[in-house]
Amino acid sequence: MSPFNIVILAAGKGTRMHSEQAKVLHNLAGRPLLQHVLECATALKPEQIYVVYGHGGEAVPEAMRHFAAQFVKQEPQFGTGHAVQQVMPQLSDDGTTLVLYGDVPLIQQATLQNMRQTNDALVLLTVSLENPAGYGRIVRNSKGEVLRIIEEKDATPQQLEIREVNTGILLAPTKLLRGWLAKLRNNNAQAEYYLTDIVGMAVQQGVAVHTVQPGHVWEVQGINSKLQLAVLERTWQQVEAASLLEQGVTLIDATRIDVRGKLVCGSDVEIDVGCIFSGDVSLGDGVHVGAYSMIKNSSIASGTQIAPYSHIDGSEVGADCQIGPYARLRPGSELHDHVHIGNFVEIKNSDIAAHSKANHLSYIGDSTVGSRVNIGAGTITCNYDGANKHRTVIKDDVFVGSATQLVAPVTLGAGATIGAGSTITRDAPADQLTVSRGKQITISGWKRPIKKK
Ligand code: UD1
Ligand code: CA
Repeated sequence: MSPFNIVILAAGKGTRMHSEQAKVLHNLAGRPLLQHVLECATALKPEQIYVVYGHGGEAVPEAMRHFAAQFVKQEPQFGTGHAVQQVMPQLSDDGTTLVLYGDVPLIQQATLQNMRQTNDALVLLTVSLENPAGYGRIVRNSKGEVLRIIEEKDATPQQLEIREVNTGILLAPTKLLRGWLAKLRNNNAQAEYYLTDIVGMAVQQGVAVHTVQPGHVWEVQGINSKLQLAVLERTWQQVEAASLLEQGVTLIDATRIDVRGKLVCGSDVEIDVGCIFSGDVSLGDGVHVGAYSMIKNSSIASGTQIAPYSHIDGSEVGADCQIGPYARLRPGSELHDHVHIGNFVEIKNSDIAAHSKANHLSYIGDSTVGSRVNIGAGTITCNYDGANKHRTVIKDDVFVGSATQLVAPVTLGAGATIGAGSTITRDAPADQLTVSRGKQITISGWKRPIKKK
């Protein structure tokens, strides 16, 4: 295949979104529309990607700065042909140019690869729709050859009957594209320079015009309104759910799961309703995720059971753990195998070795916890002195009594026992009972106050 460049049009206003934010920066499946397109474009390994932006200003290149793309400003916006013209000075004549749209987020690599099978024809991505309203129509002759694209606002009543529409996405030999764009005129209903007018020019010049259809209609669905965004979000979530089911994942209700990134599952994974997976998440064999849990950028090893309403972010959870209900694992948490983290327990930036348990109402932050440790209900690591964070180290086989505060930096030696209700400010020795609390006394003759009349 000859070298090729990709131009992504993203300068349009997006008036119907009724939003201050640039249209292409609205999220679908947790990422900006334009990011989906840039990810797909990047995967095709073009020589260069150009993003034509305008409305929304510098927020667009700013939000997408981590992509290897060049951002070209189109101001004012005189139509799709005018948008592509902005990039032409930067393109060399050899090879081809693929035009994509920042507001058509779900275009797939396989479809674009299909379009790249020739180098000397103009290739249009078209689709037949039950309701073609709003789209440019593909006009063909009696032999079925493409003659031109007619925009809806310029079409005759007969042309409006045509069901095959222009998705906008096209591939053209760059040298020919340059010549056609230079000849565009804006004498049409919208007084715009239509990219679509190059089709008629190609036909006149005897250049072959091919059409390719996308693998799925949702790939070419464009976003112009919050309604279309909501509908496409649901469509995409159905696609994600179907793919999980095909791999053998059990979804208790396939319409009540949201995948906002990449979810990789082993065998016999079961996911209850209302769960949200963000970023990169992997679930090992036999993992069960309870209802309404949120898991983000985390890996959960095989056999682990996550009870409902658990939040797990930036964490690694070992095998055969029990998490939740109502557990919160914050970034930097590493749980080894057979760890139990129960309700209303928060773990942050901590390493917890095998077979340790914190089952109720605790905060474990910036800690290193050994094996077979039992952390009693209501234990708090006081990791922050108001200015700096300090570590708590709890060695193997420690038993921490309930409602204990461990004021870091502090170390509990192996096998130590901490009496309930202690405030531990100095290291506790191994294998001994350490307790710090006021002695229990009973005051004889004390009377409860009585309410005054
Ligand atoms: C365009 C096509 C139409 C096709 C439809 C598919 C043209 C003339 N028509 O129509 O055949 O059926 O898309 O959705 O191309 N843009 C710019 N700069 C501009 C104008 C637009 O970057 O000056 C971008 C917009 O941000 C948008 C895309 O190009 O992402 C399409 O523009 P829009 O005005 O929505 O085109 P349509 O009228 O929908
Ligand atoms: Ca338009």
